[in-house]
Amino acid sequence: MTPFWALRVDASEAKLQEITLKELSEGDVVIDVHYSGVNYKDALAVSGKGKILKHFPLNAGIDACGVVKQSSDPRFKLGQEVMVSGCGIGETCDGGFSEVLRVSANSVVPLPEGLSLREAMILGTAGFTAALALIRMQQNGQTPEHGPVLVTGASGGVGSFAIQILKQNRYEVWAVSGKPQAGDYLRTLGANRVLAPKDLGHGHRPLEKALYGGVIDNVGGELLSQALAHVALWGNVASIGMALGPELNATVMPFILRGVSLLGTSSNNCPIELRHKIWQLLAKDWKPPHLEKTVARTIGLKDLPAACKDLLQRHIQGRILVEVRA
Ligand SMILES: NC(=O)c1ccc[n+]([C@@H]2O[C@H](COP(=O)([O-])OP(=O)(O)OC[C@H]3O[C@@H](n4cnc5c(N)ncnc54)[C@H](OP(=O)(O)O)[C@@H]3O)[C@@H](O)[C@H]2O)c1
Repeated sequence: MTPFWALRVDASEAKLQEITLKELSEGDVVIDVHYSGVNYKDALAVSGKGKILKHFPLNAGIDACGVVKQSSDPRFKLGQEVMVSGCGIGETCDGGFSEVLRVSANSVVPLPEGLSLREAMILGTAGFTAALALIRMQQNGQTPEHGPVLVTGASGGVGSFAIQILKQNRYEVWAVSGKPQAGDYLRTLGANRVLAPKDLGHGHRPLEKALYGGVIDNVGGELLSQALAHVALWGNVASIGMALGPELNATVMPFILRGVSLLGTSSNNCPIELRHKIWQLLAKDWKPPHLEKTVARTIGLKDLPAACKDLLQRHIQGRILVEVRA
């Protein structure tokens, strides 16, 4: 069996190792991985934080795309370009920080026409989740007429794509970022206003002045708790992440007096039909116009530990793309 390189994580460290197919998790499709990307969850997994990996050793990486090398499932042919995002890879089974990935055919999505392998992984779970959030909001009646949508954690991966996708869909976008230097970047992506958290002027009462038509929230904690009280009638808040914290200290007032909805956004277990639909949208009508501008860094497998540290220390603006076969 030909050995290949993978970033293998055990209980104490993440190490680049040569392994073979027999060491990989079971599955019916084997993929030669070309690209992956670094998500917040990957950074936690590689840095040994947050109990992301459910057992050891495991290859990290919740995203991968490449070319089918073997398949016992008739839906996939040798040489076909495919991608996997979430579905437990890099958490419960081996993930995309590896030159070879073996997965269940049910997690594999054919690369949609309109996206290259590289573009698919610039987007990765971050782009997918931003699109899922807007779909959830629109299914619940969100329109541009509700007013501006606040995007928190705006300079991160999900935030960068949320801004672009909202803008393409005619929403006014207000981006909130803790990075003072991110203003030009966020305006280039389409933000109408860029605010520092301290400039939001949020109050602490159960209902405050309506400022936002909706919110796409990547940070949780106090920022989400306070933003809820500032959402206008029948607006939607998509909860995606907890970069600031998992707590939610809010009252029911926005829900029962303004018809505000708090919507869960979970990419990992998104139903497969919706998964296909979102990737089709991202390849065509919702393809973010500034994909390349969101790439902060392109790295190889060996650079992952340092890059993950930088992401967690909030030094990254946009996405880290992994060229797995560099
Ligand atoms: N629900 C899902 O399916 C799903 C899918 C993908 C990601 N997520 C979650 O969504 C969040 C964003 O993911 P990502 O991949 O976009 O991560 P990312 O690229 O690291 O972006 C996170 C952003 O949050 C802000 N941030 C980081 N630490 C913070 C802190 N201590 N306090 C306040 N803001 C902080 C930063 O934005 P600024 O510096 O611009 O403020 C940072 O760029 C993470 O919590 C991730 O786990 C969830």
